[in-house]
Amino acid sequence: MSAAPRQQGRVVWLTGLSGAGKSTLASALYAELLARGEAVELLDGDAVRENLSKGLGFSKADRDTNVRRIGFVAGLLAKHGVTVLVSAISPYADTRSEVLSGLPNALEVFVDAPLEVVTERDVKGLYLKALAGEIPHFTGVSDPYEAPTAPGLHLRTDQISVEEGLRQLLAHLDREAVGA
Ligand code: PPS
Repeated sequence: MSAAPRQQGRVVWLTGLSGAGKSTLASALYAELLARGEAVELLDGDAVRENLSKGLGFSKADRDTNVRRIGFVAGLLAKHGVTVLVSAISPYADTRSEVLSGLPNALEVFVDAPLEVVTERDVKGLYLKALAGEIPHFTGVSDPYEAPTAPGLHLRTDQISVEEGLRQLLAHLDREAVGA
């Protein structure tokens, strides 16, 4: 007896500067999809670095390793029908596209707020330290952030609310599900 083929999952990859709102949007989307009864998992940068990527730093090599690990786990989960939400700065365009192109149904979401805005918000107090030279290789300050040139979705979080960002994410995913 052959098992029925399992529906392929999808990966929603949120990239953007620290403090741009990746985790906030990913958590809101996670809660909504969970409430809909969808199999959903969240791979959040901070949690990943405490576990899967413990010991990695913020050199290009370490960030690339981190992003590739996240991609590997996301791919495994998606293969089993899970919707995977990734929230990670993932600053390097080449590594991001390498990883995303290897994933099924991947949606790149650019969570975009200008550097002045995230510096002003400074939710974790890291920009102040980075600008004072206390945190080396800080994305946007002393390390590059290579913005996506053609993201599947571009959310300007300095111009729209979390609710509107969530609405746009859901609308995009629902449209894709209909077209699938
Ligand atoms: S990466 O580049 O994708 O590997 O980064 P990520 O795993 O998403 O981790 C980003 C969070 O780590 C904190 N942090 C730093 N960010 C950028 N640069 C440096 N040097 C750095 N050092 C620590 C920061 O809190 C990031 O959290 P978010 O959630 O993005 O604000």
